[in-house]
Amino acid sequence: MFVTARPQFKPTTEQLPDDLFAAINELKRELNAIVLAHYYQDPDIQDIADYLGDSLGLSQQAAATNAEVIVFAGVHFMAETAKILNPDKLVLLPDLNAGCSLADSCPPDEFAAFKAVHPDHIVISYINCSAEIKAMSDIICTSSNAVKIVNQIPKDTPIIFAPDRNLGRYVSEQTGRELVLWQGSCIVHETFSEKKIVQLKIEHPEAEIIAHPECEPPVLRHASYIGSTTALLNYCLASDRQTFIVATEPGIIHQMQKAAPHKHFIPAPATNNCACNECPHMRLNTLEKLYLAMKNKTPAIELPEHIRIAALRPIQRMLELSV
Ligand code: 13P
Ligand code: SF4
Repeated sequence: MFVTARPQFKPTTEQLPDDLFAAINELKRELNAIVLAHYYQDPDIQDIADYLGDSLGLSQQAAATNAEVIVFAGVHFMAETAKILNPDKLVLLPDLNAGCSLADSCPPDEFAAFKAVHPDHIVISYINCSAEIKAMSDIICTSSNAVKIVNQIPKDTPIIFAPDRNLGRYVSEQTGRELVLWQGSCIVHETFSEKKIVQLKIEHPEAEIIAHPECEPPVLRHASYIGSTTALLNYCLASDRQTFIVATEPGIIHQMQKAAPHKHFIPAPATNNCACNECPHMRLNTLEKLYLAMKNKTPAIELPEHIRIAALRPIQRMLELSV
């Protein structure tokens, strides 16, 4: 599989403060920095974030912030999106190696050839893609606004949807639109076991199964609710149910449990007896790396200006179509 080359994180010999939380809060003030974190981050990082959210919420915050420095506790494409929106700000990613298998499943040269075969199609790309793919797209979407965006495209306009085939298939079902799908997927969401989820449901008949649309169809068909990470969180809080089987990266359960301590959240199991439902990319970031990134003002996101400008237009389009 094609993997974007990114510089490796070098372990540090630097002295770390005893109280990393206090030190990070001090650096936030010194740098006029905001820490944006995705729900799939380690609980410690979620707890120190100024804003915690899903991909749409994070890009809206990145577009709106007055901070001079954005510390992005998420993966590369998320920090890159923040940089595309804020070329004059310093955008830090605690571990530059925090990539995304889904973004890596859509190499720009192969996608350019795919697009050339469908010259009359517009391209709607899931935000989980590289800046190069964004630059080749007409509109960006996230899991929380994909249906809404596709519904706003005139019915006679043919659409390529990239790179996630599972989200694409789900959006196609919800909108009744035929979409030409790029065949990418997320290693985390494709790992859930339908069989084990059904077994769990038999053991907990009172539980409701909820799932992220990046999951495979055999898992989605058992879900009574499908939505982005923020939508799943809100659903659990509003529901009268007390028990949920959660088919997405289990980092979100930290927030579910904090907001509803009396409810029971069971992470959906992976096919193998492993922790494959934890995103290995997201989990590369640690509180220590976040502190060091702020202290040393590196690693920072940089990208060629012509790519940034081309990628900005479809992101702005998404922000306009999401209100
Ligand atoms: P959302 O943030 O849109 O829920 O997507 C989840 C995800 O896989 C992010 O990488
Ligand atoms: Fe990429 Fe999947 Fe990890 Fe999200 S959970 S960053 S889509 S590999």
